[in-house]
Amino acid sequence: MDLHLPGPLVDAVYDGVGRPTLFRLGGGDPEVAHETTLDWLAWWGRTPARRAVLDLAFGSTGQPVEVAGIRFDGPVGLAAGMDKNARALKAWAHLGFSHVEFGTVTGHPQPGNPPPRMFRLKSSHGVINRMGFNNDGSAAMAARLEQHGVRRGNLAAGLPIGVSIGKTKAVALEDAVDDYLASLRRLAHMADYLAINVSSPNTPGLRSLQGAGELSVLVRTLVGEAAARAAASPQSVLGPVPIFVKIAPDLEWSAIDEALAVCESAGAAGVIATNTTLGRDGLAFEDRPLATEAGGLSGAPLTARAREVVSYVTSHTRLPVVGVGGIMTADDARAMLDAGAALVQLYTGFIYHGPGLVRDINRL
Ligand SMILES: Cc1cc2nc3c(=O)[nH]c(=O)nc-3n(C[C@H](O)[C@H](O)[C@H](O)COP(=O)(O)O)c2cc1C
Repeated sequence: MDLHLPGPLVDAVYDGVGRPTLFRLGGGDPEVAHETTLDWLAWWGRTPARRAVLDLAFGSTGQPVEVAGIRFDGPVGLAAGMDKNARALKAWAHLGFSHVEFGTVTGHPQPGNPPPRMFRLKSSHGVINRMGFNNDGSAAMAARLEQHGVRRGNLAAGLPIGVSIGKTKAVALEDAVDDYLASLRRLAHMADYLAINVSSPNTPGLRSLQGAGELSVLVRTLVGEAAARAAASPQSVLGPVPIFVKIAPDLEWSAIDEALAVCESAGAAGVIATNTTLGRDGLAFEDRPLATEAGGLSGAPLTARAREVVSYVTSHTRLPVVGVGGIMTADDARAMLDAGAALVQLYTGFIYHGPGLVRDINRL
């Protein structure tokens, strides 16, 4: 007997009560809704009994898939940026996600850009954000994972954990590699994979690290350090922590070719495509006034471009690809998987459609 709440009921409650309530919080400030959601999920994740309730309401799994030596209980993960500091660590497995990417964390804690820095484009089902890596830093992330007994491969959070690492704003671009290295050293024995974020539009100069020369030094150094740490670690049977590289949707094809060549030759385990876009195509008329807000655009206006990039990337590399960007329906996820993605991730779709979307994707 399936004890789960019926899907249509979950959707009706989210559409009728959940989303309207969240969208009204803080006078409509998306960041207030975001913080409230995380508080709420952290609370529900805190005890086995509450997690069982989450499972009953929202739990689901999909077809198992293995990528970079990691087993995933379904195709869909939570994209980076939603739970930057792993606050709701224990909840995500009980919402149907097969993995979660925490972060982006940086070598040093930092406050990010001044608010307002997140904007809902409601008619377009999109979001513009210029958060600027507000986070507690990679040392705090390591302490948090430690506190919960998370070790690579032990699934202490109920699902594989990725951590996205980026550059501290105050660190000069020339010293970026050391900043990423500091984070890798703190997290390599805890995360199931690490994602190198060189594609956020909200840290000045960051995206220049996608250039072949810079990317090559960065990925080679991090992959080399991961190998050295694995060799010296009691967990060495697991091998080095897999390192993924997350790219922007705004790169020219030739720049993607170069980045892929670097990822392959430098030993990356996979590619995550894509981050948010600086483009402003596909906005509904009502949202045009918000188009001038600086930041990266996500959600439905990104669907077509992200899929196009994923299609290009999968046909130009042998590395596994995680498809992300504008997955707002199960059909969008299907199209991303048909484009060759090994896994998919979402963030904005979760804002607009809630956990019912995760369940629908698991049922594909
Ligand atoms: C508010 C917000 C914050 C984000 N922060 C990060 C981040 O810290 N690191 C990262 O790699 N991507 C970040 N992203 C990008 C998402 O992970 C994802 O790549 C992008 O939003 C496209 O997917 P979506 O359309 O499903 O949201 C952020 C997105 C949003 C909306």
